[in-house]
Amino acid sequence: MIFFSPALRYQPGGYCAHSKFESRVAKTEFVLLRPPSLRYTVAMAHDSDTGDCNGSPLCLTVDSSSISKAAQLLAAGRLVAFPTETVYGLGGDARNAESVAAIFAAKDRPSFNPLISHVADAEAAFALGQKTPLAMVLADAFWPGPLTLILHRQADCQIAMLTSAGLDRIALRVPAHEAARALLREFGGPVAAPSANPSGRISPSRADHVVNGLGDRIDLVLDGGPCESGVESTVVDCSGDKAVILRPGGVTREQISAALTKAGLTLVNNQADGSKQDMVSPGMMQSHYAPNCTLKMNVLTPSEGMELIGFGEVSGAGMLASTLSASGNLVEAAANLFDRLHAADATGASVIGVAPIPTTGIGEAINDRLSRAAAPRS
Ligand code: TXA
Ligand code: MG
Repeated sequence: MIFFSPALRYQPGGYCAHSKFESRVAKTEFVLLRPPSLRYTVAMAHDSDTGDCNGSPLCLTVDSSSISKAAQLLAAGRLVAFPTETVYGLGGDARNAESVAAIFAAKDRPSFNPLISHVADAEAAFALGQKTPLAMVLADAFWPGPLTLILHRQADCQIAMLTSAGLDRIALRVPAHEAARALLREFGGPVAAPSANPSGRISPSRADHVVNGLGDRIDLVLDGGPCESGVESTVVDCSGDKAVILRPGGVTREQISAALTKAGLTLVNNQADGSKQDMVSPGMMQSHYAPNCTLKMNVLTPSEGMELIGFGEVSGAGMLASTLSASGNLVEAAANLFDRLHAADATGASVIGVAPIPTTGIGEAINDRLSRAAAPRS
């Protein structure tokens, strides 16, 4: 099978920086192109399987062998779509910035809206995010289930900064779907997963929706049949001393309020009482991405005292002389973006410069974030 793709789109088997890309997908095996030595043989769905997308070489009905394959792919940095009780998620290792960048690229997501990390149980969640009384009550009441908690990172949290779009707070969810839980147990780490649909399209509630929308951009779809709910999880900020619902979803406001009230805790009901929302979608908040010093974009030659972050042929300069990607790979650049900005900021330089980044593909998101960081502060 030959895929023709625009530059720098994630493709099955690796990242493609060229306009033409070849991948062999046979009925009984995947040949993964990066690294070339990796070769997975997968058992295909049988005629008796009850999944939605039998016949697609990308799609495997959930069983112990397909779960193992999916976990191996995640460990190799690949993307796997899997069912949850809400919608199908497009999963990648949440600790691996390159995998996370590949998720954004595969979805053509226009900006780095932070992603939810999925884990097998509450213990795994609180190893990554700092426990609060609010979080403990809600986790106890609604996990596993369609609830996402926003918590401060633990000091040793390994979730990539790109997963949380540069924020120090992370989103954690313990899904209830048995296939998702089995995958998370087998993988043994956090899986970043937005809904498995191209950006701006309808969320997928069946495996064939995923195959139709993203089939040429991912490595495997685990088919667990139709999702129960189809409505995404409720996102609740539990990082402070009052809970705030950032996104309504599968667990209702009434349910959350009742659980918290019973424990003597408070939900700030900022939609029902008409008050202004405390926190909007992080992707819209300019200051979130701003370093301490001034940031200049599209810099070709560093000025005196500037910490220049390079890209492609423009080399870095200053104390770190770092680059987003020496080879000019936008997916690699996206994966490195927040770490490079943090490191450059920590040098104490008065100005950070960033080399020009193309605006194609995931470059649009990189430029979006850079322009927010460079915007005048209020
Ligand atoms: O049901 C679901 O939640 C599905 C399944 C796959 O789990 N996932 C999903 O992901 O809907 P996504 O990427 O479409 O939505 C994530 C939401 C966004 O509204 C995002 O702004 C918010 O969670 N979010 C993620 N991390 C955040 C953070 N650190 N702080 C505040 N909001 C965050
Ligand atoms: Mg979504």
